[in-house]
Amino acid sequence: MQHIEHIESSRLKVQKHLDSSKTQLERNKLGQFATPGPLAIQILEFARKLLPPNGKVRFLDPAFGTGSFYAALLKTFPRSQIKSAAGYEIDEDYAASAGELWNDEMLQLKNADFTEQPPPSSDADRASLLICNPPYVRHHHLSNRDKNRLNVAIRQALGINLSGLSGLYCYFICLSHSWLSEKGLAAWLIPSEFMDVNYGRGIKDYLLNHVTLLRIHRFDPADVQFDDALVSSAVVWFKKGQPVPDHAVEFTFGGSLLKSAASSFVAVNVLREAGKWTRFPQIGNHEEKTGDGIKLSDLFTIKRGIATGANKFFILSPERVAELHLPKRFLIPILPSARYLTSDEILADAHGDPIIERRQYLLSCRLLEAEVESKYPTLWKYLETGKRKGINEKYLSRHRSPWYSQEEREPPLFLCTYINRKSKTNGKTFRFILNHSKAIAANVYLLLYPKKELAAAIKKEPNLIQSLWEMLKSIKPEALRGEGRVYGGELYKMEPKELGNVSAAEIHLKIPALSAKAAVQRALW
Ligand SMILES: C[S@@+](CC[C@H](N)C(=O)[O-])C[C@H]1O[C@@H](n2cnc3c(N)ncnc32)[C@H](O)[C@@H]1O
Repeated sequence: MQHIEHIESSRLKVQKHLDSSKTQLERNKLGQFATPGPLAIQILEFARKLLPPNGKVRFLDPAFGTGSFYAALLKTFPRSQIKSAAGYEIDEDYAASAGELWNDEMLQLKNADFTEQPPPSSDADRASLLICNPPYVRHHHLSNRDKNRLNVAIRQALGINLSGLSGLYCYFICLSHSWLSEKGLAAWLIPSEFMDVNYGRGIKDYLLNHVTLLRIHRFDPADVQFDDALVSSAVVWFKKGQPVPDHAVEFTFGGSLLKSAASSFVAVNVLREAGKWTRFPQIGNHEEKTGDGIKLSDLFTIKRGIATGANKFFILSPERVAELHLPKRFLIPILPSARYLTSDEILADAHGDPIIERRQYLLSCRLLEAEVESKYPTLWKYLETGKRKGINEKYLSRHRSPWYSQEEREPPLFLCTYINRKSKTNGKTFRFILNHSKAIAANVYLLLYPKKELAAAIKKEPNLIQSLWEMLKSIKPEALRGEGRVYGGELYKMEPKELGNVSAAEIHLKIPALSAKAAVQRALW
């Protein structure tokens, strides 16, 4: 034990040194965010509770880093119980340091890309305990070639199609299936995002249909587990083998793994039908839908603001526009992020431009390059500077034609902020903004456009705009947070569909033109 403590303290120093020697981008690309020692210990202690008392452990960590889980294994399990231990690490520096640290141990550590390794062919060589904090690498950092290669392998092994938006951690989970022995236990420390988003469906399919899902513990987002990666995390536990038909999964939340703040069991059949899994365990931050089931999506078309992929290039201040002599016809007023808006009501000048301190314009042009070159030399010159900076090669630019055109959006009447922190003063998270101007907005906002009936009611009664805005602002923060998702550090996000799910029963009731029509319809049914 003394010996392990000694290695562990060197390991923490090495970890710190290696982390600081890399840039943030390098670490993001390889998902290099280590598990804090105490959390690794909790995970291994819980694993010990789940495993048969004297069963032999064949340990595997497919994304080893410097070995926080291996250290925790050695501290938690008696040596006599550990039959073998293996790890993979793609990064030469981490692998070399880990190799030096653990060189007198039983560990088989390979400096290699885990996703390219052939799994063991016999069950006896597969892991009975697989613990992993896989690289949380967003799909943008994965090449199409890699996505295809990984997808083919997973389709062959499991018949699962992972969405192209899946992060590398999803591929790690599915590929590891072939590395786990029958009845083997796995624990994955992953972002809880998969529980709610579309790309998580493949992982949910895997957890419900290919293994026996035992438990999902979600940490309280207010209690960030990692200093340097702001994600809310979950630990997912499962055993290899089919679940019995009435199997129930334990969902726990908050506190620690060993002593959670809330818990409940949810039947697999319920999970198959449930959209968002972060609803479990039900701990009261999800309001029941009230009233007659009318939702905001019944009243508004809700869209994300536009994503330029290179705001610095496409969004320009008036001074910069003047300096570059850019033609006005290709410039659309666009709101700055909400932190620059001192008022939640945006007034407009005679041209429809917003009266705000920090004005800015979005550059968007649909003309082909040849026409721009001949007719608009100043714009052409500016686009050329963009090309030299590789703006035209960026992910979103490549998917637009021409690359300097933007998605089309009408100026929205209302906006809702997309990413929010809870205000310390009023407990509110999301801001609703009333927009009288011609400005559109980037993807830091959701844009709300009244649907046909509501638009007609507003046309008849323009004062309705103000009262609608008041009603939107009075939606309870818990109702909004309950539909959105929450990230580490109490960061709340809401997608258009999620905002659309928020109950609008009260708004509907208070707008006579709409509620009268609904009453007539009900009478006719
Ligand atoms: C989230 S860290 C976890 C490290 C360590 N297991 C821990 O918990 O502290 C993920 C590790 O996976 C490594 N990694 C990234 N892609 C990999 C790959 N394709 N194969 C193996 N390791 C990889 C990264 O370099 C990083 O060290």
